[in-house]
Amino acid sequence: MSVAPPPYPNRGATTLSAVTALAQRLSARSGRRRRPARAVDRTVTVEVRTVRHPCDDVVAVELVPAGPAPLPAWRAGAQVDVELPSGLLRQYSLCGDPADRTVYRIAVRAVPGGEGSAQMHRLTPGTRLRLRGPRNAFPLAAAPDHLFLAGGIGITPIAPMVRTVHAAGLPWRLVHTGRDLASMPLSAELATLAPDRVLRRPDDDGRGLPTAAELLAGAGAGTAVYCCGPPPMIETVRRALPAGRRFHSERFSPPPIRDGRPFTVRIAGGPDVAVPADRTALDAVRAVRPDMPYSCRQGFCGTCHVPLLAGTTRDDPAGPGRTALCVARADGDGVVVDLDR
Ligand code: FES
Repeated sequence: MSVAPPPYPNRGATTLSAVTALAQRLSARSGRRRRPARAVDRTVTVEVRTVRHPCDDVVAVELVPAGPAPLPAWRAGAQVDVELPSGLLRQYSLCGDPADRTVYRIAVRAVPGGEGSAQMHRLTPGTRLRLRGPRNAFPLAAAPDHLFLAGGIGITPIAPMVRTVHAAGLPWRLVHTGRDLASMPLSAELATLAPDRVLRRPDDDGRGLPTAAELLAGAGAGTAVYCCGPPPMIETVRRALPAGRRFHSERFSPPPIRDGRPFTVRIAGGPDVAVPADRTALDAVRAVRPDMPYSCRQGFCGTCHVPLLAGTTRDDPAGPGRTALCVARADGDGVVVDLDR
């Protein structure tokens, strides 16, 4: 079976008005350059209402406000920082309905050796948690047509996007890939919205991994393409798209180090730490300070931001006088940081 675009009758005036309506709903972002997400100070206490297992290795958790106030508003693509019972901080996409401020839904796949996902899988109803956020680094943009590509648990930010675009009456398609159907949460639920717009494409159906041509079948010049999944999937799609096409992606892993040069991190009070060209300062520092906290490894959660005492950095989302050890690199030979403030 190939990924054929479904027919979209009456795409003229109806589609134009739907695009306009969605553009108005997305007005704060539409037409602006995408800004990186930043740490969010807002904290909210929630309580675990239900814990389900839609797949063997996926836990779906519903979180409700611990007090009388509704949960903070959010838009499709948003994440929250979850402070786990041990104090670990982890980021998860909200995968429920953005219009429902009575509950947040989160789905987490168990990662071998992953302490954050292990703790999420041990949650029980009634447990209280603190959240920070939501923040959104993967927003929907107004477009006349949308193609959503999700790999495995990458469906979590995509699911509310599908609901938003569907509610706006716009054309959309979803391709959800995964190792087998039993490991692919949420997409069967989304297929109830419009069965002919959802393709669940498991790797074990005899055809192997889907190709870029398969994933992008039917995407026209005006189609906005969204992809969340493993980095190889995102890269495959990115390379296959013609230059200038609208492509939005979110990865669940640290960004690759591009053009890395070695440098030194001098920790106030010692020691000096050599950062090789292909490693992050965070990894190098944790080799000598294993208690150095981190969470997102992508620069935005703020957990590894530390005072920068000397030197300058690039690719650094931390504010003035600070540096994000997980992504920033020294401009010159090295930097001096303070890990104890
Ligand atoms: S900013 Fe999140 S770990 Fe570095």
